[in-house]
Amino acid sequence: MDLQLKGKKVLVMGSSTGIGKTIAKVFKDEGAEVALCSRNLENLEKTAKELGCKHFFSCDLSKPGQGEFAVLQTIKLLGGIDILINNTGGPKKGHFLEISDDQWHEDFQSLWMSVVESLKVALPEMQKNDFGRVILITSLAAKEPLSGLTTSNGLRAGLAGLCKSIANEYAPHGITLNLLLPGYTNTERLKELNLSDERVKSLVPAGKLGDPIELANLAVFLSSPFSGYITGQSIAVDGGALRGH
Ligand SMILES: NC(=O)c1ccc[n+]([C@@H]2O[C@H](COP(=O)([O-])OP(=O)(O)OC[C@H]3O[C@@H](n4cnc5c(N)ncnc54)[C@H](OP(=O)(O)O)[C@@H]3O)[C@@H](O)[C@H]2O)c1
Repeated sequence: MDLQLKGKKVLVMGSSTGIGKTIAKVFKDEGAEVALCSRNLENLEKTAKELGCKHFFSCDLSKPGQGEFAVLQTIKLLGGIDILINNTGGPKKGHFLEISDDQWHEDFQSLWMSVVESLKVALPEMQKNDFGRVILITSLAAKEPLSGLTTSNGLRAGLAGLCKSIANEYAPHGITLNLLLPGYTNTERLKELNLSDERVKSLVPAGKLGDPIELANLAVFLSSPFSGYITGQSIAVDGGALRGH
């Protein structure tokens, strides 16, 4: 199926590794023009070479103003933006009393304000063409708190409410916003947790870790013109790990 993404201008944030990199690859395979960003320029350069992406730049989404900068830079490099994939690194673990105020501010900037800043620039640009797609990569934590991921549990649940509100506001302009909630997905970040096969089987009804491509394929479909009637949704890609419905 041709997803009609050829020539679409896409920014994938947090795209040197993991889920972001895989999403960027699928967009490239579909013929989209893709800009990549993350903090470490050397890693990004390697990924850009591997994927055949000409456009990439360094940015740190945990710093104020960098969400806005990333979209402006993309518009400068690609001549516009049709599709925005908001993605960044996961926050540090910590139980409530272990988390300093500085950590709260950093995670709020990274998980929340980088989204607000980037949307303030991207939405008016998308509105000019009566077409736009925004996908936020969040976490199962948005629906079901994960032990020790306190800031993620709080901020990501709130983001779903914010995005539903923005999705309704922008639906008349041909712009959709959806959230994808990765479950236990096989990336560098997850490898650090070193989960045993038994533990994975107990956490995930499908009995295995997710492959980033399983989430990337959905992200790219939700970015295509075919998905125009799907907006404001939070969709888990988790092999059944969320216990609620
Ligand atoms: N993998 C899972 O099982 C899983 C489950 C639930 C939720 N998630 C969420 O999904 C997202 C992606 O996870 P992943 O597994 O793909 O992670 P990953 O493999 O660690 O990749 C994270 C990407 O984001 C970049 N990044 C990190 N911090 C950044 C910052 N401050 N500013 C800009 N870029 C930054 C990293 O590059 P640099 O380090 O060079 O910046 C890298 O390209 C995370 O938010 C994570 O919490 C993942």
